[in-house]
Amino acid sequence: MVGIDLGIATIKVVELKNENNKPTLVTFGITTDESTTSRLDKDTVIKNLVDLLAQARTTTDRVVGALPATSIFSTIVELPHMSDKEVNSAIQWEVKKLVPLPIEKMSLNWHILPSQEPASKDGPKKVKIIINAAPKDTTKQYVDIFKKSNLRLISLETEIKALQRALLTPTEKTSLIIDIGATNTSLMVFDNNLPLLTKNVEIGGSTLTNNIATTLNINFDSADQTKINMGLTASGGMDHPAVKSMKFAIDNILIREIRYLSTILRSSNNKNIEKIILSGGSAQLKNLPQYLEKELQIKTTLGNPWQKIKYPAELKDELDKIGPKMSVAVGLALKIFEK
Ligand SMILES: Nc1ncnc2c1ncn2[C@@H]1O[C@H](COP(=O)(O)OP(=O)(O)OP(=O)(O)O)[C@@H](O)[C@H]1O
Ligand SMILES: [Mg+2]
Repeated sequence: MVGIDLGIATIKVVELKNENNKPTLVTFGITTDESTTSRLDKDTVIKNLVDLLAQARTTTDRVVGALPATSIFSTIVELPHMSDKEVNSAIQWEVKKLVPLPIEKMSLNWHILPSQEPASKDGPKKVKIIINAAPKDTTKQYVDIFKKSNLRLISLETEIKALQRALLTPTEKTSLIIDIGATNTSLMVFDNNLPLLTKNVEIGGSTLTNNIATTLNINFDSADQTKINMGLTASGGMDHPAVKSMKFAIDNILIREIRYLSTILRSSNNKNIEKIILSGGSAQLKNLPQYLEKELQIKTTLGNPWQKIKYPAELKDELDKIGPKMSVAVGLALKIFEK
């Protein structure tokens, strides 16, 4: 099974096989920046994807893809125990409240989350349901990309599901996964491995690069290099204008959003975020985990998507280096272990 993550900046592919019930790496690949969606027409994306798969020498046409987090409306609702028919109409109602488009234009998918309450003798009184809705147009675009690339799309999922599979272990309590890509950041709170809250914010690696470019009055490419070299480290001085411009965006958008999520979580679920796991290319910004940990006083680590995967030891350094970018693709390929 090949997991395919079509990001704004890069395409990532990971092929896994089931070897003695252990997810085992067959091959992987990643494009250089700026090879994917939005700025490019569909035919170029298809060509880049087909080239990447050929280069990586994938051995199957069975693939799992993900819709971009920004096109998914996701909510978790708690409903009293009711019949399937009643659940269906309650969900339609919830979706109408949630999305700005007419419901006929959305593809819906929902499932009941396993109950965490101890079973009472009358059975569960309430059920929690996660509902995902995506515009049919977007879904069609993605299905079309895979079809025109001559791939068999086994499932089109959410990035949330993929990150949950790749990065969480069964013992996880209340954790926040933050996926920081090129233009978007997704925040996902999980409790005991189940999604509890999700949120997208418009900040990403490009935001930081643009801030540096404006502050230092340099072009995007030089600003990108400055970002990667410097990160949030003190080597250039934490007061360096480039570092300050990045901190400005991180403090005012990202950290503020995390604090807001913590408040909601405390008031409506009586839970605290016990751990932050970072993923996405921009999670590689130097010193970011340490910075967030210090500001928020929450243990923060870089997620390792290879933790559940068997691979040749000599690949370790290379895989670790690209790890944060590969989490979604790994999580999609892990679908092979689900029915
Ligand atoms: N070492 C690094 N330090 C800081 N930023 C980095 C580093 N390496 C990559 N990035 C940034 O990561 C971003 C790309 O990450 P990624 O490949 O996860 O994005 P994407 O999945 O294509 O985007 P999106 O999720 O927004 O669609 C770019 O903005 C890039 O500048
Ligand atoms: Mg991404």
